[in-house]
Amino acid sequence: MGCDYNPEQWPERVWAQDVVLMREAGITFATVGVFAWALLEPEQGRFEFGWLDRAMDLLAEGGIAVNLATATASPPPWLSRRYPQTLPVDREGRTLWPGGRQAWCPSSPVFRERAMSLVEAMATRYAEHPALAMWHVSNELGCHNGRCYCDVSAAAFQTWLRARYGDLDTLNEVWATSFWSQRYGDWAQILPPRLAPTHPNPTQSLDFARFSSDALLEYYLAERDLLRRITPDVPVTTNFMTLAHFSMLDYWRFAPEQDVISTDHYLVHIDQPTENAVRSELAFSGDLTRSLAGGGPWFLMEHSTSAVNWQPVNRAKAPGELLRTSLGHVARGADAVGYFQWRAGRAGAEKFHSGLVPHAGTDTKVWREVVQLGGILRRSTDLAGTRVHSQVGLLFDWPSRWACDLDSHPSSLVRAMDAPLALHGALWRQAVTVDPVAPTADLSAYRLLVVPTLYLVEDAAAATLHEYVAAGGHVVITYFSGIVDQNDHIRLGGYPGAFRDLLGIRTEEFFPLDSGQVVTVQPAASGPGTEAAWTRSTWTGSLWTELTHLDGATAVARYVDGPLPGQPALTRHAHGRGVAWYLGTALDDAALSTVLGRVCRDAGVQPVASVPAGVEVVRRSGDGRSFLFVLNHTPEPVRVEAHGHDLVTDTPVTGAVRIAAGGCAIIREGLVSTGSGGAGQG
Ligand code: GAL
Repeated sequence: MGCDYNPEQWPERVWAQDVVLMREAGITFATVGVFAWALLEPEQGRFEFGWLDRAMDLLAEGGIAVNLATATASPPPWLSRRYPQTLPVDREGRTLWPGGRQAWCPSSPVFRERAMSLVEAMATRYAEHPALAMWHVSNELGCHNGRCYCDVSAAAFQTWLRARYGDLDTLNEVWATSFWSQRYGDWAQILPPRLAPTHPNPTQSLDFARFSSDALLEYYLAERDLLRRITPDVPVTTNFMTLAHFSMLDYWRFAPEQDVISTDHYLVHIDQPTENAVRSELAFSGDLTRSLAGGGPWFLMEHSTSAVNWQPVNRAKAPGELLRTSLGHVARGADAVGYFQWRAGRAGAEKFHSGLVPHAGTDTKVWREVVQLGGILRRSTDLAGTRVHSQVGLLFDWPSRWACDLDSHPSSLVRAMDAPLALHGALWRQAVTVDPVAPTADLSAYRLLVVPTLYLVEDAAAATLHEYVAAGGHVVITYFSGIVDQNDHIRLGGYPGAFRDLLGIRTEEFFPLDSGQVVTVQPAASGPGTEAAWTRSTWTGSLWTELTHLDGATAVARYVDGPLPGQPALTRHAHGRGVAWYLGTALDDAALSTVLGRVCRDAGVQPVASVPAGVEVVRRSGDGRSFLFVLNHTPEPVRVEAHGHDLVTDTPVTGAVRIAAGGCAIIREGLVSTGSGGAGQG
């Protein structure tokens, strides 16, 4: 357990007390120096490491490992003043000035040079320091500067495009520049998709998103390679943001370059219909991070003990929620949990952000829960290295996400993350764990694949999915999938072009629904895929409908009203040895659970355990060890069948565990301890 620690924001006299309290809480690592550039290099080339030396020494003496930031996340004022060309520019041509943070252009050679000079000085200074355990490159790359439209970025974009396309004829073809008089005769004519009189070229926008992600990847690699040269044995990470609302970087491309996969996660309450949606988004993020880590353990670098400061209303965590959210990440594979930040700040833009030590001190709910978590994690060290094993994969891809969220589409209400979260959420409600996977990944380990709004699909990925189903796999594909190729060109001949044969359907026209418009969907009374019980229920669809013809598939449910009464809404098609389902609308949560429950049974997918609604369960196992995480999100106590030792209460469990409202358990399965404090005894 650890935290961001910013000793430079506090008088030195409190540092010793910090370390004492950290030990009391069970803190074993601290992320130091993230925003300290201006103090470490007060003017170009003059370094002041004294204060950091003293902080690092104190932490080393306290047995606290340091995840040392390279401090390049936010340039000091002297840098922006001396090199104004390093400042980022937004789509509307506005300069993003210093005074906040991360005011740097990812493609700036001058910024890169100054940052590398600091990284080299840091690495040289602390190479042998006993506290140094890991390097933390920059911070949340792309959080505020993920897209820069300045002239320096324009030139870098042109270079990137040359490398991708080789010649202008190819680029003109791919960007379809015969449309609206956009044909380019010289590379220098090409710009980032800056504010234009009307819709910018979509392929230009998509390529700019790819380029921008690559620019930060290249930046990361420059820091990483320099660190590896000076400290070859120290692992390097940069903290991802695998929250559903952040989409700037293609983390499938970043992940193989990291020694340790780390991420930050905050509960986002903005625009969330229910508390359950907030919770299942956390689960999605944890699952995605685990997939980025290749199924292995990962590092939760930051989350919060309670409220943040950057949402319109910053909700404090309820009693017990700190524990539940932290263990929610551990359940999904985190082997380390870190918080932003140690002490809640007393000044600055984040002064109302929670910390481990609140403004009110240690006689607080937050501090008591932090100490409690520390105790639980100390008892749970043999969790380390165990894995979550999923039977379901969810195809997830950043370029598809970027392309889906561009403008000029049939409905701007269709957002790339809606269907992934809805389908993942429906499986989450049924205690089925899911691995988000890259579309070109090896899919053979999964019994079922869900493909939610995968708007853009490359040929190779479409072929992989066909082979998967032909070989006996089951798949559920939803609306607005398989529509375009990697260049954002429509796959002609009827939608969903990439998956027509696989699904045995052909859609001729989309009929998106207005905001708030709902259609009734009626399951068929009989036939493959239907169930008698379904006909007694009423399902609803929203957001999307489409005029779909059956071309080998069976209609499992049809629209009753709306623009397409009588037309198929849900279809099922036997393809090769497998089965392919198509869902043409956004079903309500209950109906989606019903359908996915049926699909899971067909595919032989088992829930982790049978639990009451509102209770989350995940299992981590490996090397003969097995741990069942049970998180009770309901306001009532629940009983769950289990046998072993509960690491949360440190008590044996024989037959069933009772978990208080909002509480949680980690059952080390199979072993029953005979006394308290007995991690691993039985
Ligand atoms: C993260 C960032 C931290 C802190 C935190 C507040 O985005 O890495 O430095 O700002 O958010 O929630």
